[in-house]
Amino acid sequence: MNLFEQQSNEFIPRHIGPYEQETRQMLKTIGETSLAGLIDKTVPPNIRMDHSLNIPPAMSEHEYLKHIKEISLKNIVFKNYIGQGYYDTIVPSVILRNVFENPGWYTQYTPYQAEISQGRLESLLNFQTMVSDLTALPIANASLLDEATAAAEAMTMFFNSLNKQDHIERPKFFVDNDIFPQTKDVLATRATPIGIEIVYGNYKTAAIDHTYFGAIVQYPNDKGSIEDYRNLISRVHEAGAYIVMATDLLALTLLTPPGELGADAAVGSAQRFGVPLGYGGPHAAFFSAKDEFKRSIPGRIIGVSIDAQNNRALRMALQTREQHIKREKATSNICTAQALLANMAAMYAVFHGPKGLKTIAQRTALLTQTVAEAIETRGFDLVSENFFDTITVKVDNIKTIKEKAERQFINLRYIDDKHIAISLDETTSIDDLYDLINCFESDDLPVAFDINQDAGLYHIPEYLTRASSFLTHPVFNTHHSESQVMRYIKSLENKDLSLNTSMISLGSCTMKLNAASEMIPLSWQHWSSIHPFAPAEQTKGYKYVIDALSKYLCEITAFDACSLQPNSGAQGEYAGLLTIKAYHESRGDHHRNVMLIPISAHGTNPASAVMVGMKVVVVKALENGYVDMDDLKAKAAQHATNLSGIMITYPSTYGVYEETIKDITAIIHEHGGQVYMDGANMNAQVGLTAPGLIGADVCHLNLHKTFAIPHGGGGPGMGPICVKKHLAEFLPGHVELESRKSGARTNAVSAAPYGSASILLISYGYIRMLGSEGVRASTEYAILNANYMRARLAGQFDILYTNHNGQCAHEFIVDLRPYKKTAEIEAEDVAKRLIDYGFHAPTMSFPVPGTIMIEPTESEDKAELDRFCDALLSIREEIKAIEEGKADKKDNPLKHAPHTQFVVTADEWKHSYSRQQAAFPLYYVTLNKFWPSVARVNNTYGDRNLICTCEPVESYMEAEA
Ligand SMILES: Cc1ncc(COP(=O)(O)O)c(C=O)c1O
Repeated sequence: MNLFEQQSNEFIPRHIGPYEQETRQMLKTIGETSLAGLIDKTVPPNIRMDHSLNIPPAMSEHEYLKHIKEISLKNIVFKNYIGQGYYDTIVPSVILRNVFENPGWYTQYTPYQAEISQGRLESLLNFQTMVSDLTALPIANASLLDEATAAAEAMTMFFNSLNKQDHIERPKFFVDNDIFPQTKDVLATRATPIGIEIVYGNYKTAAIDHTYFGAIVQYPNDKGSIEDYRNLISRVHEAGAYIVMATDLLALTLLTPPGELGADAAVGSAQRFGVPLGYGGPHAAFFSAKDEFKRSIPGRIIGVSIDAQNNRALRMALQTREQHIKREKATSNICTAQALLANMAAMYAVFHGPKGLKTIAQRTALLTQTVAEAIETRGFDLVSENFFDTITVKVDNIKTIKEKAERQFINLRYIDDKHIAISLDETTSIDDLYDLINCFESDDLPVAFDINQDAGLYHIPEYLTRASSFLTHPVFNTHHSESQVMRYIKSLENKDLSLNTSMISLGSCTMKLNAASEMIPLSWQHWSSIHPFAPAEQTKGYKYVIDALSKYLCEITAFDACSLQPNSGAQGEYAGLLTIKAYHESRGDHHRNVMLIPISAHGTNPASAVMVGMKVVVVKALENGYVDMDDLKAKAAQHATNLSGIMITYPSTYGVYEETIKDITAIIHEHGGQVYMDGANMNAQVGLTAPGLIGADVCHLNLHKTFAIPHGGGGPGMGPICVKKHLAEFLPGHVELESRKSGARTNAVSAAPYGSASILLISYGYIRMLGSEGVRASTEYAILNANYMRARLAGQFDILYTNHNGQCAHEFIVDLRPYKKTAEIEAEDVAKRLIDYGFHAPTMSFPVPGTIMIEPTESEDKAELDRFCDALLSIREEIKAIEEGKADKKDNPLKHAPHTQFVVTADEWKHSYSRQQAAFPLYYVTLNKFWPSVARVNNTYGDRNLICTCEPVESYMEAEA
């Protein structure tokens, strides 16, 4: 490589941990002489890719940033008044810098290990409190993917509450005509497969009877109108059905909240609370409901509990609802949501406080009122007299208005030939009104208008004006100066272990480097300020990235077409299964509804299958973790007539490349089925093999695993799907995409056409900076790192499931079950003890209970891998001490782990082991100690006493007394 080629390739060794010499040492430990030899013994020859990926060569970080800046300038930033669920907002700089751009926040994982996640748990509890307060409903979750999917989740929650699985008594769901078009679209997609009949209509005249299970309205509605739904709510309840209101958090600072109107649930987007538009996302959706739904609410809920010292501690409540348990009984497949963006929105509320939020709302409403009156004065009629931030103007001909708006770099919402909607927001200034009103003015007249600050907001009807207080908790009334907010954010960050502390070896989650150069462009205005429904002429930069990324992902998967719409892996599964379903139906095979799913599959697989109305048939596994081929053959044959397909993870969730994979896919095809591949483990495939080469028809890719999007403490994510040619026509469309505006069925699965479009830049940057060689090398090193750790641990621990050469793929499972018998030590004790050694536990008890699954990724260097192995080996010695009777079965460092600073430095120390062993068990720990902020969290206590909002201040006082 010459000097300049070296420069272009400089990102590869920055992304991949081990250097050349380390690589040699690691191979020696494994017993191999070359990386190529290791790969040959690991990846079955019959599925190997025989060519290099057709992806451009690597770019240095500097070259990439220059390139992506140039591309960004193809996007044109207009002043947006489009609204429709997406509004410009001012991201407070202190939040932008300290949360959005801070790896201490964005590289965190979902808070499964509560003891090292108290910071984000507290922030998410703030989010829930904010949503609960503003909507006046007692239970809120810690975010969903977007407003439209949140509405669909509410619909299915109601549906499942009032119908039995095999007996639908109440099939109908009322959808008011004036809800956002993209929400209608997603509702329709979700409804059809499970037998929900959507009835559209005017809420005023809708006849709701006992055949309805629910209804949805928008407040304020699609046209901006504030409607009084109390009468409808009574009618829905009289019929024994439920009602959800899609709503707007800023509007609710001024309007009577849904809970006070009697609604059963509320949903919406928290985007305008300080989260940039980003051409559609990522943004946090919210979901709140009455108490009776607390066990059926979708997504994650943060709850208050206590720790081993009886101190207050937070945790994810009802964790058994997560992916491991519910499987085909699940009513939702939500795992990854939008935690980082929920944290930003919560911090925005902390920063502004209730008064600040109300001021923003009042200012926005006053400006809207001013515009409305100015436009009316010019002879136009409005659709509604009651509005908050959006008006819809009746026009004879949009053409001249549109031309004038475009001349002034203004985007309005052109609903149809006769209606223009205008939505104002926090960023609108008095000066902006001149340009805006000018669009409705003839060119030769100067624009003049009155803004009467004392006149009051008389377009918000008194009978729907909010009287109740909100956000009264001190957290929303304390941190208003920048110093306070900065320190509050830092104090929370300090409680959390993120990738900027140590490796997070979560099997199946691929916590690799999220490089700064991949992240930086996200904050640039030409990416962040683009409305998802902006006209195509303004979004050419996004189009460039979307087209290129789609092409690269097709090349990587050996497929033909790609949809970047799904917002998470599970949404990808759902979207992929919809394409399979639509394909079968297009051939008249409406009856094909049986989905085979191996027992080892992630819980979202069966949950997604159920969501598209499929029947799940489980396929057994052999002792060695491979799919039981006899069982597979028998079940494929038994269900041949109705076989829809199989969902298979490759390499399997047990961490091995099954040599039989091609036989599996062939058997399914022989019986007329399609093969869905769960791409969670793509980090073991890129450049070495591909879903298309193993015989799959469709797969999703977790861009938040393999392609470097950070996990953000539980989201955002992106789960695009790639398909073979014959499925391409069934990929999700979108009501706002020109090509689909024909009114054809869209199969949309997200509110925005390209999901959380702005984070696609991260994956695009990842591929461009690594290039063809680098992405393949990443896979090879992921395998090297996993096998190195496996080799180091193998003498002391049982490693489950390796191939016939004894190798694992990119992850492996360590069996901890024997220690239950020998030392009364469980997997959880080991997980918590790892915290004392400064590490996040690997994935626990998935896919095998009582085990841990380690996935180091390519980004960790040998020294970090060694520290982690040293920690586990040292823990093994601690277990041995118990086994040999040298340590007490109850009083040992594992059972009491993790040890807090408070416990270790307390005057009293009652344990049979030393404080030093408790807190500094190995030398390296003394150099960079990470202290958990709480001791072991009590799970059952939290579930028995479910509290999902910030407790009133008095409860803290009682706890202290
Ligand atoms: C094997 C597997 N499939 C599916 C998923 C679901 O992905 P997501 O959380 O993005 O919805 C996961 C998530 O961890 C997974 O490990």
